[in-house]
Amino acid sequence: MSERARFDERHLLAIEGLRKDSILAVLDAAEPFFDVSRRSVRKVPTLRGKTVINLFYEASTRTRTSFELAGKRLSADVVNISVSTSSAVKGETLLDTVKNLEAMQPDVLVVRHAASGAAAFIAARTRAAVVNAGDGTHEHPTQALLDAFTIRRAKGRIEGLEVAICGDVLHSRVARSNVALLTTLGAKVRFAGPRTLLPPGLEALGAKVYDRLEPALEGADVVMMLRVQRERLGGSFLPSTREYGRIFGLNEARLALAKPDAIVMHPGPMNRGVEIDPAVADGPRSVILDQVEAGVAVRMAVLWLLAAEPSERVPSA
Ligand code: NCD
Repeated sequence: MSERARFDERHLLAIEGLRKDSILAVLDAAEPFFDVSRRSVRKVPTLRGKTVINLFYEASTRTRTSFELAGKRLSADVVNISVSTSSAVKGETLLDTVKNLEAMQPDVLVVRHAASGAAAFIAARTRAAVVNAGDGTHEHPTQALLDAFTIRRAKGRIEGLEVAICGDVLHSRVARSNVALLTTLGAKVRFAGPRTLLPPGLEALGAKVYDRLEPALEGADVVMMLRVQRERLGGSFLPSTREYGRIFGLNEARLALAKPDAIVMHPGPMNRGVEIDPAVADGPRSVILDQVEAGVAVRMAVLWLLAAEPSERVPSA
């Protein structure tokens, strides 16, 4: 990288609207942090004296754990709040919760919420930097960044790659963040899924859209499978998950349509046997656990870029 890319965002709320420079700044900053997590002492002093609050109103395993580890590996003080133990169950509003947390002087608020726009709502009303860790069906920016980091490590580039994003696109904040990031970095995106799970307007984002899996997989460099979001399937979008798996599940025969060196991704949690066959999920082309590892490094980079003192802007080795 000839010149260091610039990041001058106050929050990370969405990929849509983020400059290419800012995206590259996160990906580049994540590289040394990736190495930190592979050392025997997985800690740097970069965010000493800073406070990160993880405020999770929705279930999460990977995202919550990796934000917690990211903060801790940067030496920040990290507090995790999940809704089942917070005062939201006693009827406190989101804004009151945020105002109370703000009174404790956090530097960063990491927020996951079922309502699209929740992170932006908070960002407009707090002094802390806000990171969107998934807001409803809107965006999940750090997931797209860790996906891009994983693709770049596996393929050496992102520009020019053919990326197939398949499954429940309608409910997927991961898909929305990914299409914004991948097209900004010059990849070509194809979406595939049953018609009922493909939102209108995908072509306008510069993507090709298929209502069958096979044509989307043909010649793909990257195959990204999405979870069928049963918790968001209010109406009857699908006949049955068995039927879905038969028609839209990624198995070895279908994966053979992609490039011979294509990689398989999934943001997790997986529905094994529904959108992805266990043989593929655990197979040699799967980078699903690499995505999880990248998640810690990318979240370290994001916290560092948003909260580090100017004098601490180079990660210590
Ligand atoms: C995703 C999410 O919660 O948006 N998971 C994740 O963060 N890795 C995807 C999903 O729930 O299907």
